[in-house]
Formats: sequence, C-alpha cells, structure tokens
Amino acid sequence: MRMVDVIGKKRDGQALSAAEIQWFIREYTAGNLPDYQVSALLMAIFFQGMTREETVALTLAMAHSGQMLDLSDITDYAVDKHSSGGVGDKTTLVVLPLVAACGVPVAKMSGRGLGFSGGTIDKLEAIPGFRVSLSEQEFRAQARQYGLVLCGQTGELAPADGKIYALRDVTGTVPSMPLIASSIMSKKLASGAGGIVLDVKCGHGAFMPTVALAQELAAIMLNIGRDAGRDMIALISDMNQPLGAAVGNALEVAEAVATLAGGGPDDFRAHCVEVAACMLKLAGRGQRWQDMDDCRRTIETALHSGDGLAKLRLLVQIQGGDVSVIDDPARLPQAPHIATLTAEQGGYVAQVRADSVAQAALALGAGREKKGDVIDPAVGVIVPVKVGQVVQPGQPLATIHASSAASAAAAVPFLRQAITFSATPVEPLPLFYDVLL
Ligand code: URA
Repeated sequence: MRMVDVIGKKRDGQALSAAEIQWFIREYTAGNLPDYQVSALLMAIFFQGMTREETVALTLAMAHSGQMLDLSDITDYAVDKHSSGGVGDKTTLVVLPLVAACGVPVAKMSGRGLGFSGGTIDKLEAIPGFRVSLSEQEFRAQARQYGLVLCGQTGELAPADGKIYALRDVTGTVPSMPLIASSIMSKKLASGAGGIVLDVKCGHGAFMPTVALAQELAAIMLNIGRDAGRDMIALISDMNQPLGAAVGNALEVAEAVATLAGGGPDDFRAHCVEVAACMLKLAGRGQRWQDMDDCRRTIETALHSGDGLAKLRLLVQIQGGDVSVIDDPARLPQAPHIATLTAEQGGYVAQVRADSVAQAALALGAGREKKGDVIDPAVGVIVPVKVGQVVQPGQPLATIHASSAASAAAAVPFLRQAITFSATPVEPLPLFYDVLL
C-alpha cells in the first residue's frame, strides 16, 4: 500500500477500506510514515468526513495500536465515564467516589487540560503528593484491593491517538467529528470498560458550539461503542457557562470536596448526581437498580451520608496524597493575591461565557496554551453567578486568585467580557439538553 494513494482516495471523497485504515495506523505508530503525509490525510478527512464504517475502523485501529486493558480479573463489568471537555468540569472528582461508594468498582484513566478545557489529572496534582502516574501493576492491584483508581493514561493506551492528536493540534484538524469521536472512543475502548457514559458538552466553552452538533458527535460515539459491543449512554450538557463556580485546579478540588460534603454549587451537584446515576444504571445492567430514579436516589444517599467523601479521602490516601487537604481544603495551594470583581451595573445575568472565563483562568496561569506549559495549581477564578440570576450593582461577580496584583488585573477584562447583563428577565440555562440511550 502507498500512503499517497490513501491520501488521494480520501481527498477525492471516497471511503477508505478497513484494511487501508488499519495499515496507515499501524505504519504511523511504528514510525514508518512521515508526519507530512499523515497531516495531509488528516486534512482530507477534515474536509471529506468519514462514513460510520470508516470511523469505527479508525477507532478500533487506534484502540488496538497499544495495549487493550482487560479488567475481567478485577470486575466482570467495568464502567467508565468521559467528558468531551469544558470549563470548571471537575465532575470526575465527585462522580467516581460516589459510584465507588455504591459498591461499583471504578478504575479510570484521565487526561490533562489543553486550551479552554481543563483536565482531571492537573486537578489531582493540586493535592500535594498525589501520584497520578501508576504502573499497570499498581493500577490493577489498587483496583482489585480498593475498587477505586484514578490516574493518568499510560503511554501504552492507544498510542496512535497520542501521535495523531499532537499532529491535529498543530495542523488545524482538531475540530473534525470523526477525528474527535475516534480519538475519544479509542482510549475508552482500550481502557476495558463494558459500559461507558459520555458527557458531551455544547456551547461557548466546548468543542461543539451547538446542541445539534453535540448530538451528532454523541451519536457517532454511541455507534462506535455499540459496534464494539459496549453499553453506552450519552448526555448532552450545557457548557455555555462554566460548570459550578470554580475554575482553576486547587479551587476545583476544594469545590469537589465541598460538593461531596453536601454543599457546593447547585448546578454542579445536580450534574454529578445525573452522571453518577447513569454509571449506576449501566453497572446494574437492569438488575441491581430498577430505573434512573432508583439510581439517582442511591447516589444521593451516598452523597448525603458522607460515603462519597470518605471514598475521595481513601483515593487520596492510597495514591500518596495529603489527606489533610480533604479534611481542610484551606490547606490546598493558595494564591497570594485575591481580588473581587463587582458588578458595575445591576440586572439579569444574560451570559457567563465559559470561553471568556477560561481565558481569564489561562491569563492567571491555571491552564495550558500549548502542551508542556507549566500550570500554577493555586490560581483561578470563582464565578458564583449564573445566567438568569438577578444581580445588584456592587454585588461580587467573581473572586480572582492570582499570583500577583498585575496578574489579577490581566484577568479582569476577560471576566468583564464574560459576564453580560440584560434589563429584562433571562431564562436560566438547562443543565442537560438531551440523553441518548
Ligand atoms: N478529547 C480527545 O481525547 N480527543 C479529541 O479529539 C477531542 C477531545
């Protein structure tokens, strides 16, 4: 096979065969194809798209480019979740302990943040001592002993995706439906779960700007999962405004702890209960819990009893973290400079644009513009206002946690741009737009 023929075929709008897709993934992973040829193919895929069969073949080829984790010696049915990425999305930190507290083993690998999108691993690293890098042996031993693991992805999991994602990042080919769907699903399929809950975000702070596009992406991923024999649920959730109030790594850990302690922002708590309930629904396989209401009630019991918080504490302890930060989140890394942004006018909150809040957090040093950038775990913003809320002049709109006064000042224009007002009532944003079963 010649790569130039594969590129030409896709450039001309023809479907690639499974054999051609498997060949190019195998050769690229082995280092036998130059980046410029794979870049050309990615751009052709960006413009021409892929059929369902091609997308499934690409996902399976990427999943099989490394190790396929087999968790059957740990549990007969593993469940996993994945968020397509957003601002203030610390859901995993709450959902995993809650699901574990209901007696369902969870062994999850998560990613780092890039651009507007935060990453669970960066948030966990805000906890002093927490080990995000585990060997496969440690991962398995911990899953077997405690039924609870949360760590970074090992290099062995879908390495083709790692190489291709790096290339997409620098060739303008990230926002392609089949490429996003296959990238996400290759890692999910390789990590061995029988049931997968997808939290597909839409809005200003997400890859998918509209509900329709998020539904399309979710449907592609559901098809891939089902064709690969997995049980799937996809939630389409709002990412026009940040999820919860905290954006920034240590601040988000503190908000997750507050939520597991029964407090935290209402939207974030409700979001976590729904995602966790979906995981229980899959884990129960129609037998252990009767319906979604039963799953929600079980999760709420784990939340209100403190069992979820105890599981987060256990997770931190077994992965070497300082548990005193869970008992007292004020012991998490603290920014030296804290400033409050107040409303210059009153009115109904019309927008809290998640992308602008993310830019504020990036300006403070809470995220990465490009891979490898160093992040400051202590900095970020807390934005307690939500679309539809009434705000009085002088009321606090945001608390800025910065490394210096100059850095805090740099974040202010982004926050002013993010939060806009209307003189007439504004409907609050829904948490979810759709559920695809
Ligand atoms: N997350 C991924 O893992 N891959 C993408 O392409 C987009 C989001």
